[in-house]
Amino acid sequence: MIDLTDTQPAGTAIDRFPVRPVTPSAQVDSLAREIVALKKRLNAVVLAHNYQIPEIQDVADFVGDSLGLSQQAAKTPADVIVFCGVHFMAETAKILNPHKVVVLPDRDAGCSLEESCPADKLRALQATNPNFHTIAYINCSAEVKAASDVICTSGNAVKIVRHAPKDRDLLFVPDENLGAWVMEQTQRPMTLWKGNCYVHVEWTHAAIARIRREHPDAPVVAHPECTRAVRMLADEVCSTEKMVTWCRASTAKSIIIATEAGMLHRLKRECPDKQFIPAPTENCRCNECRFMKMNTLEKLHACMETLGPRVELSPDLIERARRPIERMLEISAMPLENAG
Ligand code: 13P
Ligand code: SF4
Repeated sequence: MIDLTDTQPAGTAIDRFPVRPVTPSAQVDSLAREIVALKKRLNAVVLAHNYQIPEIQDVADFVGDSLGLSQQAAKTPADVIVFCGVHFMAETAKILNPHKVVVLPDRDAGCSLEESCPADKLRALQATNPNFHTIAYINCSAEVKAASDVICTSGNAVKIVRHAPKDRDLLFVPDENLGAWVMEQTQRPMTLWKGNCYVHVEWTHAAIARIRREHPDAPVVAHPECTRAVRMLADEVCSTEKMVTWCRASTAKSIIIATEAGMLHRLKRECPDKQFIPAPTENCRCNECRFMKMNTLEKLHACMETLGPRVELSPDLIERARRPIERMLEISAMPLENAG
């Protein structure tokens, strides 16, 4: 029985709604010019997630999803990595580049999924079943990565689970919605950690059904962090990068998008001939991740000028967290038939 009421964790719209000062356009231009000059001077690469504000996406060397960003981080020849996303993403870049300087505009840019899964609680659950094979969504801390067998992103989770050893009991952490979607795709049972993305659980079955009625010709594309009640109304469920390819290939003129609002800028840039309709949430305009939106052009400029805040991790933690991430990158690069 599917719960269509979408009961979600309590929270107030006010503390979820990011208050973001608007930078005047002349200042945007001059900051952008200085950032380009700093990139050259530092031999730095600016990596930005699809949920970053438009001004940051426009000045970045690479804009993409968590998988694309970790692949870029793994192969960049730059001396300095400037990571515009949230903290766990910059941490992943540092784990893959222990000898490089990795900076981020705001050290406090966290993630509700990461918060939901403290490493000690994960270890306690793992201790209940020595046959667990732990697959951790990349939205988790370095300690949780180190305690896992393999990492996945929303872009490769199905492939990673198909590749998992058949004789092990799968434990999927920390996103129960992504985990449930992967179970549907792979028919592989998994124990799911009870975490969620506070942004993606704001969409409800009723709100999506309503917008579909208003735009009967527009397909719905949803992120797998959405609840099942929402995913079941979607024409496509995929990672943010696959949204770009799907929308490009679609013949639809208008497409309804159920993911964080930053994605709309990327989609408009990639598919200028299409109209993108942000899927409405039920009670508030909560489709912006307050963590992703902590990064501003000013903070990006400042972190490049001062080379801080930096991501620093102990060599021991880097060593332990690195293997499961590398495993993910290896499986991701395999042709499908070898991957499971
Ligand atoms: P992807 O970009 O991998 O689809 O992930 C979305 C997300 O929520 C990142 O925090
Ligand atoms: Fe975490 Fe959700 Fe924000 Fe992504 S959108 S960083 S999953 S809180």
